[in-house]
Amino acid sequence: MAGLTQKPTVIETDVLVLGSGIAGLSYAIKAARHGRVTVLTKKEDSEANTNYAQGGIAAVMDPGDSFEAHIADTLEAGAGLCDGAAVDLLVRSGPERVRELIEYGVRFTYERDRPGSLSLAREGGHSARRIVRADDLTGRAIERGLLDAAARAAVAIHEHYFALDLWVDEAERGPRCIGALAVDRETGEQVAVAARVTYLATGGCGQVYRYTTNPRIATGDGIAMAFRAGAPVANLEFVQFHPTALHPVEPRAFLISEAVRGEGALLRDGAGRAFMADYHPLADLAPRDVVARAIDAEMRRTGARHVWLDCSPIPATHFAERFPNILETCRSRGLDPPADPLPVVPAAHYMCGGVRTDLDARTGVASLLAAGEVACTGVHGANRLASNSLLEAVVFAARAADTTAKLLEQEAAPRGAPPRARPARQPDAADVEKLRGGIRDVLWMGAGIVRDDEGLAAARRSLAELSAAVPREPSSPEAAEVANLHLLGELIVRSAILRKESRGLHFSRSHPDPDPAFQRDTIIQPDQGKEHST
Ligand code: FAD
Ligand code: SIN
Repeated sequence: MAGLTQKPTVIETDVLVLGSGIAGLSYAIKAARHGRVTVLTKKEDSEANTNYAQGGIAAVMDPGDSFEAHIADTLEAGAGLCDGAAVDLLVRSGPERVRELIEYGVRFTYERDRPGSLSLAREGGHSARRIVRADDLTGRAIERGLLDAAARAAVAIHEHYFALDLWVDEAERGPRCIGALAVDRETGEQVAVAARVTYLATGGCGQVYRYTTNPRIATGDGIAMAFRAGAPVANLEFVQFHPTALHPVEPRAFLISEAVRGEGALLRDGAGRAFMADYHPLADLAPRDVVARAIDAEMRRTGARHVWLDCSPIPATHFAERFPNILETCRSRGLDPPADPLPVVPAAHYMCGGVRTDLDARTGVASLLAAGEVACTGVHGANRLASNSLLEAVVFAARAADTTAKLLEQEAAPRGAPPRARPARQPDAADVEKLRGGIRDVLWMGAGIVRDDEGLAAARRSLAELSAAVPREPSSPEAAEVANLHLLGELIVRSAILRKESRGLHFSRSHPDPDPAFQRDTIIQPDQGKEHST
């Protein structure tokens, strides 16, 4: 680790991209047509939630399907909170974006007996087969295809660079983002990247919960950085819990894709009873929030540590062909589906809220754009429809690239003084890890699948008590992540407290019904610590 540096090295670029998942890379490829693009990513280039996506990307690719049906399914899942214009844009742009991914070199799976026809899967909440996939490793195929295309587009990707904070110039016409302060994980050197446009593609924050399907990178850094820079955040109470993570979920949860239920698998309790029909007319293919809550209720009712996913309705040869990755991982854990039932539990999976953006990916801070899981575009409302996330990322990344072309014509090179480098002295690593664990426990207990007023108030108090230990001005990635997780935890709990009803993913025992008065977004404004619903 370098010693105290007063002035970070300054690098200049036209466009700074933070993150190398689907939102970051698909944008960078397009933005490179308009200027010099610099991508910073905090680990290896492929280490992103994107790389772990299994099920696929939803789009209307079958002549028997329709935009209207995909729109209706998305709105239905969103429980009255979707932005209609954003959903319309999402769904109608879908086929073009999928074709573009194919042109970039992403290898999706095609029907064996119908060459040229994409093999489309079905997932919960979808009224048609419309999930474009690459076996059960869709994310890996997308990530690989995009990395290759980015290399062809001469996009410079700097691995192991951790963005600590955005660089905001207050001097001109109000706050403008002019880049970011980052740290090279390998040398500890701090670098200020000056950019005419800064684009956040830092993904979600599943790591704020004790149990999550998300990899270690998902610590909500982008949401925290944008909030500190002055951007409003929205709908952070809507955390999606995936119903079926393989039990036990530690050290890291492995996802059993919803597509397994799409192919016929059934959830059963310890006595072997298929229980989903008690909860929803679509039974095992009900929307994800319903299924996760049903499993949670069954586990509470019976005291069981998990429920069972019975894959036996799926023929063994089909299972092996359709889910090779899931089969391999299960076998490595001594389970052999479809013959063996799989022990499963819900785990935190996806953040529907985020940095509030408009249809052009603009945030509340000038020259700062955002897309992907870090953003709240309004397409998911109170609950995301399965496989709409990869779609949202690629659709709004393309919009952001169009916005960037316009901004680059208008925005001069940044002139603000570079940010001060941060002291290299950092808190003890063991203390940082303890704090990380404490935050994750508080969120899991107080702001999990089912909430209530008392639990949320207790979570708020616990986070306030932990705040004394939160690193100030962190310069190491680990300390910065924990500070970001703490801020995310506070924002999620504050948002959940504001919503005194149950809707979509936010279910409160204290307010078990939807209330039309709350059919609006929950916005938290950073400046005056203001919070309100609009
Ligand atoms: P990510 O892919 O998470 O990329 C974020 C990037 O930002 C990473 O490169 C990360 O290293 C970088 N980064 C973060 N913070 C910093 C920082 N401070 N400095 C520098 N770099 C930083 N969605 C679907 O639609 N279909 C699916 O089938 C599906 N399956 C899923 C399965 C799993 C197991 C998981 C976890 C998610 C799944 N999702 C699925 C959700 C979907 O994968 C994500 O929402 C989507 O990939 C997010 O893409 P992104 O580009 O916004 O973020
Ligand atoms: C899955 O494969 O079940 C995940 C799909 C998603 O998160 O949309």
